[in-house]
Formats: sequence, structure tokens, C-alpha cells
Amino acid sequence: MSISIKTSEEIEKMRIAGRLASEVLDYVEPFVKAGITTDELDRLCHDYTVNVQGAIPAPLNYAPKGYNPYPKSICASVNHQVCHGVPGDRVLKNGDIVNLDVTPIKNGYHGDTSRMYLIGETSIQARRLCEITFECLWLGISVVRPGGRIGDIGAIIQKHAEKNGYSVVREYCGHGIGAKFHEDPQVTHYGKVGTGPLMEPGMIFTIEPMINAGKAGIREMADGWTIVTKDHSLSAQWEHTVLVTATGHEVLTLSAGCRPKPDWIA
Ligand code: MF3
Ligand code: CO
Ligand code: CO
Repeated sequence: MSISIKTSEEIEKMRIAGRLASEVLDYVEPFVKAGITTDELDRLCHDYTVNVQGAIPAPLNYAPKGYNPYPKSICASVNHQVCHGVPGDRVLKNGDIVNLDVTPIKNGYHGDTSRMYLIGETSIQARRLCEITFECLWLGISVVRPGGRIGDIGAIIQKHAEKNGYSVVREYCGHGIGAKFHEDPQVTHYGKVGTGPLMEPGMIFTIEPMINAGKAGIREMADGWTIVTKDHSLSAQWEHTVLVTATGHEVLTLSAGCRPKPDWIA
């Protein structure tokens, strides 16, 4: 396995793609309310990406080995859906939690980010899961630095999730990203400190923990894409794209509407 080191020209393009990704999520936020369908959210994000940003939604027709082409431009994963929820005629309702995951391609480079949206009045349990998962993401980001190991990221995420009574999904990971959507390394959201590839300046990868309120087990739905928890427990996910810098890290998927890092995390 080889992890690419991005040139300064590539890093500049990744900064742009990353910001655009986050701006799609800013744009759609006011529409993510009870009564809208996930198809309508898909359409809004698609049109904004294409017509306003002059970018391409990477998920549309994305076909990794063993998969049918993905039919939509975003992933919309509701409640016990873990990831890769395919938008459709499902109507969001009061109390739902939904992850929207977007990946525009601009000038050949990908920016990948996702957030949780809470619909109306959600349960204390749902809010707590979204909150702890957000903390897991930022704890993972906090250990990204040259000389560290990729396993440091999963270790700190797993510890925080399990300390709070939750479990970490094993089958899907963060990933290297650049001109390709998914490349080395695999960034697992569990693991041990000091294991895995060395982090070096110029590496870019995502961190995107999927945390279940119940057991870790998952199942794929008949559509060949949507992943759900086996025990039907709630699941949450947040994602950023992160650059390893000479002194630490830079989060590439930030924008004006982005929720800031929890203030207690270094
Ligand atoms: N955006 C997802 C990720 O974070 C990948 C979605 S692939 C799709 O890696 F085809 F389902 F869109
Ligand atoms: Co990703
Ligand atoms: Co994503």
C-alpha cells in the first residue's frame, strides 16, 4: 500500500474542493426540515454543486468494484441507517436524525464531508449520540500530526465511543482522498495507539466515524448500498477531510456554517 504525498499545487486544489463540500452542507441546512424528502435534498445539493459551484457530485454513478453505480448525488442516512443511505421518497419527520454526506469534485480534486441534522424535537438519546460522535471526529482530528500513526486516530475515537456506551462500525473507514475518491490509507475508527502507517506532511485523508447506540453489527439493504444497524439501534456519523501539515493538521472541509470544534479538545 502506498500513501500519496500531495504537492503544494494539489493541496491548494484540495483546499478549494474541501471548502466547496462544506458549503454544500451550509447551503442545504435550511431545507433539512420535517416534510422534505431525501430526494428533494439530493436535488438541491446536486443543483447547487453543478450550477453554482461548477463542480461534479462524485457519488453520482460512482461504481467501486462489486457495486452497482450509485444512483444519486448525496448520501442521506436516517436514524438506524449507518451510511450510504440512497435518497428516495422518504419524508423526514419530527425526531429524525439524518446524516448528509457530500463529495464535490472541483478541478479534478475531491472534498468529502458529512454532518448530522436533527429534525425538530429529537430524543435526548439521539442528541447525545450525535454529540458524542461529533466529539469522536474531533478527537480523531486532534491526534493527526507528522510522526504519529494512523492507528492513533482509531484508538482515541474507539475509546471515547465505548466509554460512552456506544460501538464503532468496523466495515467502513476513513480513506485517503485527492484526485481519487477513495485511496490509501484506510483510516479505521478503532485500533491501537502506535500502530498503522506513519503520518507524513502532505498526506490527505478523511476521518468519518460511524457510531452506533447499540451493537456494532451492520447489514446491507436490498438496494445494494444503504447500510443499517443489525439491531436497528440509532447510528450517527460526522466527516471531515484532513491534511497532515509540517506541524500538525489542517481541516480542509470548513466553511462559514460549519459547527466549530468542541472547545475542550486540543
Ligand atoms: N462519501 C462517502 C465517504 O465518505 C462515500 C459515498 S460512496 C457513494 O466515503 F457512492 F455511496 F456515494
Ligand atoms: Co469519506
Ligand atoms: Co463522505
